[in-house]
Amino acid sequence: MKDVIIALDFKDREEVMEFLREFTEPVYVKVGMELYYAEGPSIVPEIKTLGHKVFLDLKFHDIPNTVMGAVRSASSLDVDMMNLHAMGGGEMMRCAMEALNHKEVKPLMIAVTILTSMDEDALKNELHVEFPLEDEVLSLAKMTKDSGLQGVVCSALEVPRLKEKLGKDFLTITPGIRPLESALGDQRRVVTPSMARELGSDYIVVGRPITEAEYPYEVYKKIRNEFLGGEER
Ligand code: C5P
Repeated sequence: MKDVIIALDFKDREEVMEFLREFTEPVYVKVGMELYYAEGPSIVPEIKTLGHKVFLDLKFHDIPNTVMGAVRSASSLDVDMMNLHAMGGGEMMRCAMEALNHKEVKPLMIAVTILTSMDEDALKNELHVEFPLEDEVLSLAKMTKDSGLQGVVCSALEVPRLKEKLGKDFLTITPGIRPLESALGDQRRVVTPSMARELGSDYIVVGRPITEAEYPYEVYKKIRNEFLGGEER
């Protein structure tokens, strides 16, 4: 089930509600740390009441017992997707999954492998990871799959290799998307929505090209059509 996820990187509830007013049909949105820490958990049901799906992007990373508690608390919000850092290790990821056992309808649990803001140089010289970045991404993704999670956040450029090694059902959620006419902002390795489709991304995460557009809903529809290429969700 492929889709476009709109990153709601707004500073408060008023800005979000103003933005969503135009979106009268259900869409998939991402609530990240900026909005969540400004407004607290209640922002999630408020958005869900409007009919939208929510990816809660809080990137948990702590000892297994603490992450287990965090996932248990966050899952009471009935989000559709949530995430953690694969760098927390296999036991942390298995505990996160265990925390969802009691849920009849479980959210998708996704791991961040290496942040796309990290480059090869930082990986080697700051974290002292000797593997090439792409191998490290693959190895963390494999551990993610083995721990029972459904997928990873990654660059669309990494999708073909991950799908080849881990199977087509292992989900890839890819930010760093820019329509041809859009400004790059601080993203560097970007791909267009149709390139993301060709590379096999399952979900694309798009923020500023939509949120900062003059006509956000029109831009969203255009990006969604380009990504789905006629396929329905
Ligand atoms: O505005 P833009 O389209 O660049 O937003 C991308 C969104 O995806 C932001 O919310 C950002 O935090 C998130 N993200 C990212 N790269 C990652 C993980 C998440 O850009 N590796």
